[in-house]
Amino acid sequence: MGRWRPSTLVFTILSAPIIIIIALLSSGGTTTVEDVDNDHTMAVTGLLHTDSRWILNQGGQRVKLACVNWVSHLEVAVAEGLSKKPVDAISKGIKSMGFNCVRLTWPTLLATNDSLASLSVRRSFQSLGLLESVAGVQTNNPSIIDLPLIQAFQAVVKSLGDNDVMVILDNHLTNPGWCCGYSDGNGFFGDKFFNPDQWIFGLTKMATLFNGVTNVVGMSLRNELRGPKQNVNDWYKYMVKGAEAVHAANPDVLVILSGINFDTSLSFIRDRPVSLTFKGKLVFEVHRYGFTDGGAWADGNPNQVCGKVTADIKQTSTFLVDQGWPLFVSEFGGDLRGTNVNDNRYLNCFLALVAELDLDWAYWTLVGSYYFREGVIGMEEFYGLLTWDWTQVRSTSFLNRISALQIPFRGPGIIEGSAYKLIFHPLTGLCVISKSQLTSLTLGPCSSSDAWTYTPQKTLLINNTNFCIHAEQEGKPATLSITCSDANSKWEMISDSNMHLSSKLSDGSNLCLDVDDNNIIVTTACKCLNQDKTCDPASQWFKLIDSGRRSISTTSTLSMLNSPDILWQPLSSI
Ligand SMILES: *[C@@H]1O[C@H](CO)[C@@H](O)[C@H](O)[C@H]1NC(C)=O
Ligand SMILES: *[C@@H]1O[C@H](CO)[C@@H](O)[C@H](O)[C@H]1NC(C)=O
Repeated sequence: MGRWRPSTLVFTILSAPIIIIIALLSSGGTTTVEDVDNDHTMAVTGLLHTDSRWILNQGGQRVKLACVNWVSHLEVAVAEGLSKKPVDAISKGIKSMGFNCVRLTWPTLLATNDSLASLSVRRSFQSLGLLESVAGVQTNNPSIIDLPLIQAFQAVVKSLGDNDVMVILDNHLTNPGWCCGYSDGNGFFGDKFFNPDQWIFGLTKMATLFNGVTNVVGMSLRNELRGPKQNVNDWYKYMVKGAEAVHAANPDVLVILSGINFDTSLSFIRDRPVSLTFKGKLVFEVHRYGFTDGGAWADGNPNQVCGKVTADIKQTSTFLVDQGWPLFVSEFGGDLRGTNVNDNRYLNCFLALVAELDLDWAYWTLVGSYYFREGVIGMEEFYGLLTWDWTQVRSTSFLNRISALQIPFRGPGIIEGSAYKLIFHPLTGLCVISKSQLTSLTLGPCSSSDAWTYTPQKTLLINNTNFCIHAEQEGKPATLSITCSDANSKWEMISDSNMHLSSKLSDGSNLCLDVDDNNIIVTTACKCLNQDKTCDPASQWFKLIDSGRRSISTTSTLSMLNSPDILWQPLSSI
């Protein structure tokens, strides 16, 4: 993760209805989730390969990486949180929150420096004076406290595997510590702390160590390439060497390549493909945060900024999907207190893009607090899905939003029957659905979506019916109607974000689809279309997404809900 400047503006996100009930219990030490659609469980471990832009299992069905970043590269070189919870409880929590995968970070020296690798967890904490953490790990993970660091790392991978969670090993930096600054000596091949030979040696050791460990499905070769030395020629020279070294040591893993500029740009690949001796394993990764664009989101009109940033992302990374390469958004995230305007606006826009392109992704981060980061003991992580003490989910409404992205929208083996559109609402992670009486529309789980078609006449029609969405009056619910040729049944996608669905009444006024406090779909005056930077249009943002009836309805391991030690404790929405 790159550095950012915090915003001081205050902003409150709309609360969404909670369809997930979560409890990370302080005593039981486990997280449980109930999802509304809990019919299927997909076996997610096993070897993966790629076919055009998709990552597939051995049966040829798409496996969408829905990961969370679990940090294990800071000074102590121990996966965070082991002083707060038993490793198995954390792994179960990850799975029950609907993630099928973890991007687990590691510093090169953990693989290349034997005295570091063989240092015990206890001694690593002690050498930094982290005595409370020692006591916490002793209590929560007595079987790990005296393991050498490398074996503790393996124990975390094993625990994830035991819980059916895939792992992407991410070489984050060289020396254990927080990452990433522009000129911190870890940014590019040949930097002070970035010796390419040592890096290849480390990748080879790690790939070898996890050869045969079937839940390790991929390796990110290096996090966020950057800095004064970055250049495209050296990128090809060394990334190809690294990729070949990993493949030679462990041909089962996906090989994942980061771009330059803190992994925000892969534009150079467009005209110069990576040439490797092997096929079907190459994936690209990209990062994007609100702060990637400085304070642009808070300082500008959200539609205009969204339009601009989306165009930039297409230019620099998502073009790869069109070229037939899998693209893994291996870091994105924001302040989950909901008070950072820049982050909130960016997330509303970015989640729509991730949904539209149905990208593989990894949220930054799981971690509620760090043992020791940038000189601070017990630093809280406000981007973290968990709270400071790792006992609760920080924002159930945010988890609810990203849960919509955990299930693939499409891809090989996913859609049963004909394809159709979903009308996705990125602010809530919900979709437009018709209520049983077929007259009014509401937000609901995307899995319950009607089969929408966006016709050439710009009507939004429910397939195989004559019903289309109709604007009635400002402030009133939109209805389903069978008179679909009038102006108030035509929906233009307007504004730079292309996410306002706008219609005209007979008096010539324009209205946009919106959502009221009860999640009823209404039409209101189109707001903050441009220029105005103080207002936020997100309740009026909708994205049409290609999907259909899906063969997969959850990535959660629901069988564990039968386990006797799990209690239920619903949390209220923030
Ligand atoms: C290897 O690790 C040890 C223990 O952390 C450390 O003291 C030493 O400086 C490291 N060596 C190198 C070459 O980084
Ligand atoms: C819905 O309609 C579109 C366009 O007519 C068609 O391509 C698609 O197959 C239909 N989907 C379903 C589920 O009927």
